[in-house]
Amino acid sequence: MTTVAIVYHSGYGHTAVVAEAVADGVRTGGAEPLLLKIETAGQDFTEMLERASAADAIIFGSPTYMGDVSSPLKAFFEASSKVWMQGGWRNKVAAGFTNSLSLAGDKANTLGSIFVLAMQHGMIWVGTGMAPGNPNGNTTSAPDAVNRLSYSVGLATQSDNAAPDVTPTAGDRETARQFGARIATYAAKLKS
Ligand SMILES: Cc1cc2nc3c(=O)[nH]c(=O)nc-3n(C[C@H](O)[C@H](O)[C@H](O)COP(=O)(O)O)c2cc1C
Repeated sequence: MTTVAIVYHSGYGHTAVVAEAVADGVRTGGAEPLLLKIETAGQDFTEMLERASAADAIIFGSPTYMGDVSSPLKAFFEASSKVWMQGGWRNKVAAGFTNSLSLAGDKANTLGSIFVLAMQHGMIWVGTGMAPGNPNGNTTSAPDAVNRLSYSVGLATQSDNAAPDVTPTAGDRETARQFGARIATYAAKLKS
């Protein structure tokens, strides 16, 4: 069976909700999700790197902190240089997601950092493939809209500082599910 690793950090639980929804979507897409949660920048990444390397695809997720990936995900990225030297992730499907408080909040920069990491590893990037969530120009932030933030390069969701079971919104969770299913589909295609 195709396996999709979801390597993510979440300081306060909101990005974790997105990661779970992405995992649901991966299952819907016919693959097995492997949720790998980073706890701290100082942890030993050896086992996590091995498990991610064994998967057919890797989806990287992070909250946007100060306009970029959080330091625990960045530490994982730097630890992955050992895999880079072996070409261990070359031609593996890659994708990225981020969640933050603001509707914009410099999320594009976070996804850009994830994209560059994937390209350094020679991975095959898959974006959302989704139409903008505001086709009429007036529903951008409708909470139930799919891809309401209109991102293509990767999955972008937004949450208020309310409890993670309140936000991100139902629309964002559905976007995450559809995104996970898409990555699973392309991981299986590339595997075959
Ligand atoms: C250190 C720090 C920096 C942040 N920087 C941003 C930012 O640049 N843009 C933004 O929209 N939100 C920012 N936020 C808000 C978080 O993105 C938001 O609370 C998010 O839901 C946190 O995800 P988490 O619960 O998975 O940690 C920041 C929060 C923290 C703690």
